[in-house]
Amino acid sequence: MIDAVGLVKDYGDVRALAGLDLRVAPGEIYGLLGPNGAGKTTTLRILAALDRPTSGRLMVAGFDPSDDAIEVKKRVGYVAETAILYESLTPREYFEFVASTRRLDRGVVKRASTLADAFDLGSHYDVPIGALSLGTKQKIAIIAAVMHSPPLLLLDEPLNGLDAKSGRILKEVVSLHARGGGGVVFSSHIMEVAEAMCTRIGIVNEGRVVAEGTMEELRALSGRRDSSLEELFLKLTEEEGFVAETIGRLREDASRGP
Ligand SMILES: Nc1ncnc2c1ncn2[C@@H]1O[C@H](COP(=O)(O)OP(=O)(O)OP(=O)(O)O)[C@@H](O)[C@H]1O
Ligand SMILES: [Mg+2]
Repeated sequence: MIDAVGLVKDYGDVRALAGLDLRVAPGEIYGLLGPNGAGKTTTLRILAALDRPTSGRLMVAGFDPSDDAIEVKKRVGYVAETAILYESLTPREYFEFVASTRRLDRGVVKRASTLADAFDLGSHYDVPIGALSLGTKQKIAIIAAVMHSPPLLLLDEPLNGLDAKSGRILKEVVSLHARGGGGVVFSSHIMEVAEAMCTRIGIVNEGRVVAEGTMEELRALSGRRDSSLEELFLKLTEEEGFVAETIGRLREDASRGP
């Protein structure tokens, strides 16, 4: 479903991706984990054909996004890091609008309404989006991305702003999608989520996948069978020492009192 080899992305002097490789098969839920600025959003935007790589080879859902961006976009449901929605429309109007721009039929609008019920959006369905809370807007962005059942879901920190109940529903939506043969790539800073949901995890650091595998494989890689994903992550991104030192300094400061 995704075959990326040696992706490089430069923004002026900044190298956001430095030879990133990624393969995702149908039925997989692939989690991108990495520190701030590692290149997760850049990767997802390139996969969604919203940005072009500077170099590298890429196929998404059977197409090269540089040549066939429209074909890729048809097959991808993308949730951006920060949802950009039409604030003056209500969710109902927004879903109808999205369906009409994608030339989707009424069945899709019906599915949007089923998803809206699942996410408990009921009382907000006819309120302008601008007046809704952060988490409610996030639910709307998720529904708009998945309502036409695209083969590939690309979700940039999809749990952002969601409460526990909605997070649980999202996990179910994602896992049903994968069980139906779809592919999912999402980024997260929440280790437990990645650990619980992903069939495979890729740890991204400085624009590269520095480690990849199932949770078991990652544990084996670190040589510590009992380590949590968080410990592994810090080790693999070489931030273990920095965090330990910083915590030590903070504790020392705190012990001196106010
Ligand atoms: N439009 C842009 N112009 C210039 N630099 C950019 C742009 N977008 C991203 N970058 C840079 O590319 C690098 C990767 O950013 P990216 O947003 O992909 O990181 P991320 O892994 O998603 O981080 P976070 O966890 O904070 O969301 C960073 O150094 C960032 O400053
Ligand atoms: Mg990001």
